[in-house]
Amino acid sequence: MKKILVTGGAGFIGSNFINYVLEKRKDVFIVNLDKLTYAGNLKNLTGIEGNSNYTFVKGDIVNDELISYIFQKYEISHVINFAAESHVDRSILGSEIFFRTNVLGTNVLLENAKRFHVEKFIQISTDEVYGSLGPEGQFEETTPLQPNSPYAASKAAADLMALAFYHTYQVPVIITRCSNNYGPFQFPEKLIPLMIINSLNDKKLPVYGDGLNVRDWIYVNDHNKAVDVVLEKGKVGEVYNIGANTEKPNIEIVKIILDQTGKTEDLIEYVKDRLGHDRRYAINSFKIKNELGWQAEQSFEDAIRNTVNWFVENEKWWKEIISGEYQNYYKLQYSSRS
Ligand code: NAD
Ligand code: TYD
Repeated sequence: MKKILVTGGAGFIGSNFINYVLEKRKDVFIVNLDKLTYAGNLKNLTGIEGNSNYTFVKGDIVNDELISYIFQKYEISHVINFAAESHVDRSILGSEIFFRTNVLGTNVLLENAKRFHVEKFIQISTDEVYGSLGPEGQFEETTPLQPNSPYAASKAAADLMALAFYHTYQVPVIITRCSNNYGPFQFPEKLIPLMIINSLNDKKLPVYGDGLNVRDWIYVNDHNKAVDVVLEKGKVGEVYNIGANTEKPNIEIVKIILDQTGKTEDLIEYVKDRLGHDRRYAINSFKIKNELGWQAEQSFEDAIRNTVNWFVENEKWWKEIISGEYQNYYKLQYSSRS
């Protein structure tokens, strides 16, 4: 049985990963370590509460003593590090917490992976480490790192440290670099959930700059299926790009969402551009397809419709985020237990 430390498992991608893997497999035990920052929401995991192959620990990946305790207590064999500060706009407002969690936190996890001889350490990274593209070309695994935002720089630093631990100490590190995700449980500060919720509430949809910045979109479950394949078959020391070949300018996404929520383009409001705004991302994922046999399954048209429908059907989930009530859930559910 794999004993997997999943960090950041109460966030968007991590919670989808845990829900997916526990549904699919009986041969894993998952320890979900999450600090429950504003982005962590245990309501994302209510479906697997009580599952005997799962436990939750509230804590910080920077806390070496806690991490070392968890490795020993649960005999951790695998690490999947989703935990991060993940929002570019927040990193522009203040970079320190990004450095702390994304760089120092990853370093603490790597040190413990070395000390306790884990079998695999998957560092969940991002295509943003490659910087920004012009109108042509794609990011490949060999593209030089040229991060532009404090967020991307902190992720790139973590990637380099992880690769150094592989090279120097043979810690069995694998890095995945995925494009922009969307789907259920995404915190409504990111483009797609923010636009869906504003649209449902008849609020303005703030489009940065000229709306023509391009992102390459992937449905969160496709990303997580790729992570699961990497967990099984990924080769240590390697980097794998993950993407679904779905490049779209932001304004097109916004118009699709307006159409699907039955609202008009009057809600669009062009606002001041993001500082240092990367123009275009596009990811080449031939390597993971050729070497591990993974490719995205969901079409953008189906998956964006599912996502809009999910937000329509799960109004309570996002209303509790807007009111702040979601942050009481840990206290209510867990504080009496230990
Ligand atoms: P998220 O912000 O939704 O979730 C992050 C989670 O990490 C939260 O639950 C938060 O509480 C937790 N966390 C933050 N700091 C922590 C700390 N110090 N210790 C323990 N837990 C901590 O992020 P997400 O969108 O789910 O992204 C997950 C990972 O995937 C990140 O590493 C991100 O860089 C990467 N990624 C995200 C995208 C995307 O489009 N969202 C794309 C590519 C890669
Ligand atoms: P975001 O979801 O923050 O992801 P990232 O910056 O990591 O790619 O933003 C996606 C794109 O949408 C990006 O080009 C910025 C743009 N954007 C807006 O135009 N308005 C918004 O309110 C937000 C949050 C993003």
